[in-house]
Formats: sequence, structure tokens, C-alpha cells
Amino acid sequence: MNTLTETPKYNDEVVKLFTIATVFWGIVGFAVGVFIALQMAFPALNIGEYLTFGRLRPLHTSAVIFAFGGNALFATSYFSVQRTCRTRLWGDSWATFTFWGYQLFIVLAALGYVTGVTQAKEYAEPEWYADLWLTFVWVAYLIVFLMTLKNRREPHIYVGNWFFLAFIVTVAVLHLVNNISVPVSLTGAKSYPVWGGVQSALIQWWYGHNAVGFFLTAGFLGIMYYFVPKRAERPVYSYRLSILHFWGLIFIYIWAGPHHLHYTSLPDWAQTLGATFSIMLWMPSWGGMINGMMTLSGAWHKLREDPVLRFMIISLAFYGMSTFEGPLMSIKTVNALSHYTDWTIGHVHSGALGWVAFITFGAVYHMVPVLWKKQRLYSMRLVNMHLWIATIGIVLYIAAMWVSGIMQGLMWRSYDELGFLQYSFVETVMAMHPFYLIRALGGILFLTGGLIMAYNLIKTVKGDAVPMKTKVGEKAHA
Ligand code: HEM
Ligand code: HEM
Repeated sequence: MNTLTETPKYNDEVVKLFTIATVFWGIVGFAVGVFIALQMAFPALNIGEYLTFGRLRPLHTSAVIFAFGGNALFATSYFSVQRTCRTRLWGDSWATFTFWGYQLFIVLAALGYVTGVTQAKEYAEPEWYADLWLTFVWVAYLIVFLMTLKNRREPHIYVGNWFFLAFIVTVAVLHLVNNISVPVSLTGAKSYPVWGGVQSALIQWWYGHNAVGFFLTAGFLGIMYYFVPKRAERPVYSYRLSILHFWGLIFIYIWAGPHHLHYTSLPDWAQTLGATFSIMLWMPSWGGMINGMMTLSGAWHKLREDPVLRFMIISLAFYGMSTFEGPLMSIKTVNALSHYTDWTIGHVHSGALGWVAFITFGAVYHMVPVLWKKQRLYSMRLVNMHLWIATIGIVLYIAAMWVSGIMQGLMWRSYDELGFLQYSFVETVMAMHPFYLIRALGGILFLTGGLIMAYNLIKTVKGDAVPMKTKVGEKAHA
């Protein structure tokens, strides 16, 4: 390419692969979520050795976070870094390696879960051989991303890329430190971590919380900073605010992990430190949410016309909600009630379904017509249907978990006049049954929405088109 005005030929083939994987693993992860939700309502569904709740739960969390979320982050970061740097993704074969290498990691991890080969560390379950493999893949990802930034034809690095880079680098550090372990033998799967006791717990939750902060938040904010302005066809509301948002978020997040260890043997000062930084996190989080939402200033009417943009803005509302709830739950007296209860599960899913999955759906709906060079999506009505069915599903899920969680916490701590516990544990489990049914129904709706999306995208790729009654989304957003 000779001039700065020519459009470079982007490597969209690898983005297509990651996009297909996102949709595929999303459906798998949601389906396993529905199944384990049903297992909690009907324990008889724990069939045989391999399909028990204990083995399927990490399969669900890894499928949705690392397979669905991870592939979405690869797809969107590769898509947007090329366009914001106006250059082709560096190293075609390296990028393709990251795709196949990452899928192999997912399969290795999943096989370990069902066969019971895990480190038993939440969100870091895979054993040493899978961890080592992921390290190679991740270093390749970092190199591809950095080299693309280096080859950029734009003078400055767009803020979305800062978030993606922070996500890639921090996840590498977290992964390496939390997984330091000694394999029992080079031919066996078992290993022992070098960390022990309370140090192990602290490192695990430093990892766990920052997996939320950098995998489920910073990376997805990278998506927000590229796709919301693009879809709204407006510049980001405040560039200055986005810089404050970036530095505030990455500096504060890294300290908040101890809020997962309130009332444990972790020193009290460390617990208080975790809570203090969690409360401080509210500020940059809402700064980012406001920056995303206000990008629509002067273009609010687009929300009426474009359900894809609506997915993105609803996701920001859920981001705001879960980052208000999180600091609240980190206060020790509140955590005394919420910890170990379904309230935490409700909080997790308002962030996971509302924020992470919705911003991903918005980005995927935006990318597919561009990647497969179609004028528009097959059906905007189906996008709208997906939006409403999934939103109702989320509301059922999180409202059921709030009621069940608070009820559970209150039942555990109520005493009779003689000072005995008023309820046995079994009574608290029985009281939660109706809410588990409502949660499963919410999950089924959310999964149905995902299937509608898959159908719509397949029809889009095949080039089928339905006549449009409205002008919604007619334009191909490149
Ligand atoms: C159809 C949608 C979904 C359903 C029905 C569902 C259901 C469930 C269930 C039943 C659990 C176990 C709760 C417990 O142990 O009490 C769970 C845990 C979890 N799910 Fe989902 N889930 C769904 C989607 C997602 C998505 C999209 C994400 C992330 C992007 C996600 C992330 C998690 C996490 C992180 C946990 C562990 C929470 C903790 O340990 O506190 N889920 N899910
Ligand atoms: C300001 C931001 C946030 C803060 C301060 C925060 C704080 C908290 C607190 C205090 C807990 C409960 C810990 C416990 O009692 O064990 C928690 C759990 C959790 N949060 Fe958040 N949260 C925030 C945002 C989010 C977001 C946006 C997501 C998802 C995208 C999320 C995902 C999770 C997960 C997965 C857990 C469960 C961890 C586990 O026990 O397995 N959080 N968070």
C-alpha cells in the first residue's frame, strides 16, 4: 500500500473464525448454565459420575467466561485494532495459531473438568499442562497485538486499544502468578501449587477478582469504546474522561481482591484495604458508564431505530448496576449477609449476562455483516426479539437470586428465643426451590435468545434477506 488514504486489506478471516467460535461456545455455555440451574432445582438430574453439578459448574463458568467471552475478546480486539490503526493485523499465521491454540486450550480444560482433573481453584481450574499451553497462546496474542499497534498508520493509539492491551498484559501476569505449581511427574496430570494457606487464598482471589476486572471488565470496555461510538456514528463523549477512566480503573481494581475473603484468616487490615478500594472503584466504573451512554448525546433517537445499539446501551446500564452493587457487597457488614448466598450469584449474572453478554451480542451483530460483506443483518425484528426475550430472562434470573439470596442469608442468621438456630440447613434449601425454578426459566429465555441470534446470523452469512418494513439498520456499518 502506498498512500495513507488507501484502505488496507484487513485480516478478517481470523476475526470470522473467532466470531463463529463466540456464538458456538456462547450457546454451549448458556445450555450448560441452564442444565446446572435445573440440577439445583431437581437434584435427580445429577446423572452418573461425569455429569454431576460439581463437574459441570466449572464447565459452565469456563465455557461462558473463557470460551464465549475469550473468543469475543479475540474477535473484537482483532477487528477493532486493525480499523483504529488502519493497518492489517500483524502475522497472519501467528493470528491463526492464536485461534486454533485457544480452541485446543478450551477443549483440554473442558476434558479435565468432566473427568475430574482440576486444580480446584475457581476460574483457574485447568491443570499445569493446559496452563502451559495457554501461556504460549497468550504470548502469541500479545505479540500479534503489539506488532499491529507498532505498524499503525494513525499517530495516536485509540483508547479502546489501551483497554485491550491492559487486559492482555494483566491476564498474562495473573495467570502466571496464580498457576505456579510443581507437577508430580511430567507424564501425570496432577500438580501441587507452590502457594499454601492464607497466601494461597490471597493470591487466588487477587487472581479471581482481577479476572473479573481485566477479563470481564477492561477487555469488554475495549469493546464498548470501539463499538458504541461506531454504531452511534458519534465520537466518544469525552476523550479526557476515557483517560481518567482507564488509569483510575486499572490502578484501583488490582487492590480490591481481598473483599472475597472477608471474615477469613486473612489479616483484618487487608480485608479493609480490599473493601476501601472496592468502594473507590465505583467512581471510575460509573465514569466509564457515563462516557459510553453520553456518546449518544444528540443521537438518542437512534436507540428507537437500532436494536443493536439498544443491546449496547442496556449493557452499559447493567454495567452501572453491577458496579454499584459490587462496592455495596464489599462493605463488611453487607458481605456478612451476602457472602455464600445466592445474592452473589445474582450479582455475578447481572454483570455477566447484562454487561458481558449484551455488549458481546451488540458487537457480534455489528461485525457479522461487515465481515461477510452483507448490506445488513437478515432480520432486525429477530434482533429485537432476542433483545426482549434475553432482557426478560436476565430480570427473572437476577430478581430471583436477590430474593433467594437475602432470604437465605436472613434464615441462616435467625435465632429463636433460646439462642438456637431457627432453621435447619435443609429448610433454607427448601425455601429456595421456587426461586431456582424462576432462575431456570430466566436461563431458558436467555438461551432461546442466543439461539435466535445464531439463526439470524447464519441467515445473514448465507445472504438471505427478508423485506424490511422499517428502515431500521438498513445501512451497512463498516
Ligand atoms: C443461560 C444463561 C446462564 C445460566 C442459566 C447460568 C446459570 C448458572 C448457575 C446455575 C450457576 C451456579 C450457581 C451456584 O453455584 O449456586 C452459575 C454460576 C456462574 N455463572 Fe452462570 N449462567 C448463565 C450464563 C452465564 C454467563 C453468560 C456468564 C459469564 C459471562 C456466567 C458466569 C457465571 C459465573 C462466573 C458463575 C460462578 C459464580 C460464583 O461462583 O459466584 N453465567 N451460572
Ligand atoms: C466496582 C465493581 C465491582 C465490585 C467492587 C465487585 C465486588 C464484588 C463482591 C464484594 C463480591 C462478593 C464476594 C464474596 O462475598 O465472596 C463479588 C463477587 C463477584 N463479582 Fe463482583 N464486583 C464488581 C463488578 C463486577 C462485574 C462487572 C462483574 C461481572 C462482569 C462481577 C463479577 C463477579 C463474580 C464472578 C463474583 C463471584 C466470585 C466468586 O465468588 O466466585 N463483578 N463482586
